[in-house]
Amino acid sequence: MSDSQIWQDAAENIHWYQRPTRLLDDSNPPFYRWYPDGVTNACYNAVDIHVEQGRGEQLAVIYDSPVTRSRRTYTYSQLLLEVARFAGVLASQGVGKGDRVILYMPMVPEALIAMLACARIGAIHSVVFGGFASNELAVRIDDATPRVVVSASCGVEPNRIVAYKPLLDQAIELATHKPDQCIILQRPMQEATLQPGRDLDWEEAMADAEPAACVPVGANDPLYILYTSGTTGQPKGVVRDTGGSIVSLKWSMKNIYNVDPGEVYWAASDVGWVVGHSYIVYGPLFNGNTTLIYEGKPVGTPDPGAFWRVIDEHKVKVMFTAPTAFRAIRKEDPEGKYLDKYDHSGLRALFLAGERCDPNTLEWAREKLQVPVIDHWWQTETGWSICANCLGIEQLPIVPGSPARAVPGYDVQVLDRDGSPVAPGEIGALVIKSPLPPGTFTTLWNAEDRYVKAYFSRYPGYYETGDAGYIDDNGYVFVMARTDDVINVAGHRLSTGAMEEVLADHPDVAECAVIGIADKLKGQLPLGLLVLNAGVNRDPGAIVAEVIQQVRDRIGPVAAFKHCAVVSRLPKTRSGKILRGTMRSIADGEPWKMPATIDDPAIMDEISAVLDSMALQADAG
Ligand code: COA
Ligand code: AMP
Repeated sequence: MSDSQIWQDAAENIHWYQRPTRLLDDSNPPFYRWYPDGVTNACYNAVDIHVEQGRGEQLAVIYDSPVTRSRRTYTYSQLLLEVARFAGVLASQGVGKGDRVILYMPMVPEALIAMLACARIGAIHSVVFGGFASNELAVRIDDATPRVVVSASCGVEPNRIVAYKPLLDQAIELATHKPDQCIILQRPMQEATLQPGRDLDWEEAMADAEPAACVPVGANDPLYILYTSGTTGQPKGVVRDTGGSIVSLKWSMKNIYNVDPGEVYWAASDVGWVVGHSYIVYGPLFNGNTTLIYEGKPVGTPDPGAFWRVIDEHKVKVMFTAPTAFRAIRKEDPEGKYLDKYDHSGLRALFLAGERCDPNTLEWAREKLQVPVIDHWWQTETGWSICANCLGIEQLPIVPGSPARAVPGYDVQVLDRDGSPVAPGEIGALVIKSPLPPGTFTTLWNAEDRYVKAYFSRYPGYYETGDAGYIDDNGYVFVMARTDDVINVAGHRLSTGAMEEVLADHPDVAECAVIGIADKLKGQLPLGLLVLNAGVNRDPGAIVAEVIQQVRDRIGPVAAFKHCAVVSRLPKTRSGKILRGTMRSIADGEPWKMPATIDDPAIMDEISAVLDSMALQADAG
């Protein structure tokens, strides 16, 4: 079947207030528009439709929180009531179609309710991951200029309570744009002080709320903005439209994940990431599944059997997480003894994404769970997978190390530096021929030029993924590394450029570099090198401790920036470019050659010694 036919047919499976008469507007590349004259609503397709079609009593959401020892469930009818009422709360605060609402929430059902409530009234949500600090939140507040921020008094990490409200207050103080209102969910673990006139209590607001109806929106109206790391400290606001998202996510639930309505589908991620948007909230609900909100970790909450307990108790049929979660479990329970305590026989498949999946982890998971373990490749920008073994179409042989073949709708190719196709097996830039399929990003918020420049200018006619890799003779794609300064730490996408900006702000630092080094658990870890200003004679250890704290305060604990050292100079080419690639190879213990263009080869002895000892420290930590 042709791609056009697939997206034509898939559009028949969703609810439209006004059916699109055109499939694709390609008049203004690279700004392609799917279903340009369709009118729909994402909340209606996620919730109301199921109640109307008789699924009202089925569970829509299971909340399982080992960190607070609590559980809650919502049927589709109950979810509809909550969402409609919270939509009413937002509307009563003046939020309407096209307004932005920032959500800074832990993994509680209210996060999903708030997202759907925004979609219900045509407002654009932007969820900020709870592990980001005030400064990152402030940058997003200034860029998205929300009318309202929805947050909670706290998040719960296994080792501490994270008070969100002071972080939010500080972010609003730092930001130039001031939201009119904040709506705060008080959690009993740590309540927050509310600011009269600005802050509303979630429960009180809900008690008086009038339910709001769904507002029909254009297929190309934005559903949400999700910020992701680019090469600089200014994150990219990925914009996803409404119609394409509903069509593609619903299609993917059957064709990629092979789950049917009524089955329990679990993405163990966070609503702050794209996986959470697509596969905790929208995809499973569009498809009439039961979704799981899990507030816990793979290990330590309380033990490495946590995932198996959830699979058993909630009858999970298909699960999705990042390889790092399985590396964490394997590290604590290499023989899989905890599996014997639970019944996981109902699980049909495990999907992994977010970072390169090392073949050992894949094999271990396959051996222990005895189900297909499917590596699939995707990005915040695409919103759903570019390459996958589509279980609902035809299961292909699993080749560890490869996310299998391009999914229908994606024409994946490998180009060399000059933009020419390379032979099978040869590494180059992974690109996708335009147009991208429905549900992928339509622009960057407030940054149309950056959208074109960052993704579509280097290889005209193609989307540049920022990943490098190759395609073998069988069409299997191998994603090997990023081509930019983005690193992947525990499945979280981070910018080394943003960390360098923070280090460079320290008054004693003259120059710095941050590189991603290989880590057995988290895939990669950031490592910083500092050159101090001439004349600084303070204890280098103290300066290192200060910059580590600075990254935690400015970017957040999620940056996991714990390894840093002072060196006398950075290795550079004669034209002044820092030799990050060479340093990475040394830290990872890979063979390396002295670059012919290096300005001062003598510096490499010092750099090698520092990197070797830091890589050992990272390994031990
Ligand atoms: N709010 C506040 N802080 C948070 C947070 C949140 N939502 N999420 C993480 N953090 C903090 C952690 O507490 C930790 O702080 P610390 O330095 O004080 O210990 C720090 O951010 C780093 O977190 P993380 O990288 O997640 O490391 P971890 O050691 O807590 O856990 C794993 C490691 C592998 C268990 C964990 O990363 C995990 O479960 N990953 C699963 C995969 C996943 O969710 N991927 C997302 C995309 S699919
Ligand atoms: P994010 O936007 O946070 O989802 O991160 C996207 C990036 O994670 C991709 O560009 C890849 O570098 C990496 N990634 C995601 N999934 C995979 C995968 N299955 N294999 C290799 N890399 C992956």
